[in-house]
Amino acid sequence: MKAADVENKHVVVTGGASGIGAKTTELLASRGAKVFFGDRNVAAGAALCESLQGKGYEVAFFELDVTQKDSVNAFYKAAIAKYGQIHVALNNAGVDHMPARMLDVPDEEFHRNIAINLTGVWYCMKQAIQHMLEVGGGHIINLASVAGISGAPTISAYGASKHGVIGLTKSVAIEYARANIRINAVCPSFIKTPMVENVLANFNQKQQNTLVSANPMKRLGEVEEIAYAIAWLCSDESSFMTGHSMVLDGGLTA
Ligand SMILES: NC(=O)c1ccc[n+]([C@@H]2O[C@H](COP(=O)([O-])OP(=O)(O)OC[C@H]3O[C@@H](n4cnc5c(N)ncnc54)[C@H](O)[C@@H]3O)[C@@H](O)[C@H]2O)c1
Repeated sequence: MKAADVENKHVVVTGGASGIGAKTTELLASRGAKVFFGDRNVAAGAALCESLQGKGYEVAFFELDVTQKDSVNAFYKAAIAKYGQIHVALNNAGVDHMPARMLDVPDEEFHRNIAINLTGVWYCMKQAIQHMLEVGGGHIINLASVAGISGAPTISAYGASKHGVIGLTKSVAIEYARANIRINAVCPSFIKTPMVENVLANFNQKQQNTLVSANPMKRLGEVEEIAYAIAWLCSDESSFMTGHSMVLDGGLTA
């Protein structure tokens, strides 16, 4: 057997048009997985889809807003119609907010972070579990964050949403372990994606240096470094892992 084999795995990815979701979609497809990815950014999603199909990869794109239950249900219906059994569901769509102490974070930002990062995962997990019960099992992988493990000063709304994702991951993993459905979380620290680049663009040089060198490795993570770990999780080599939060943070939480 090939290491971290994902050939012929059918994977659904949310937030697949950018950053970690886009790189993971490409990596999985390059290794022979069939990837059905959704995003609310239709222009970026359609462009990525066309470029990956041009390389001969088996991918499909669908417009998706994870905050809307009907949209999530339509996404799953289309994915199942296209590829049949879904083996892995990667709940990756997410947003953050500009760093500030709680009193300076608008309520709207809190509600937006919870709606996308937590309620969105809730809706997607329901669809995935329903399908996986029907087909005899599967694996759900939720993008959480180190901000879901330790306190996340100045990104409290984001941190609250990611603590919620880890709570859902652990609780529901226990509920469905006997049904052959595994549920795990991935917890990166700062990774070089548009999400982090956007924050850095609003920082002065000193703040940028502090963020970039926050971990003992003194650098940001690369999207590939997260995608490789997710690819291993997607493979059968991770078969005894469930309810786990896998940390990829350059030693930040060590
Ligand atoms: N980049 C980091 O440092 C980092 C660290 C820890 C965790 N994460 C998590 O990883 C995931 C991916 O982050 P990223 O850095 O690649 O971000 P990104 O901004 O590059 O990509 C996020 C994608 O999610 C999509 N999206 C946002 N709201 C959506 C919605 N309502 N419905 C559908 N799609 C939606 C965006 O359009 C975008 O394509 C997020 O859950 C994020 O919280 C990122």
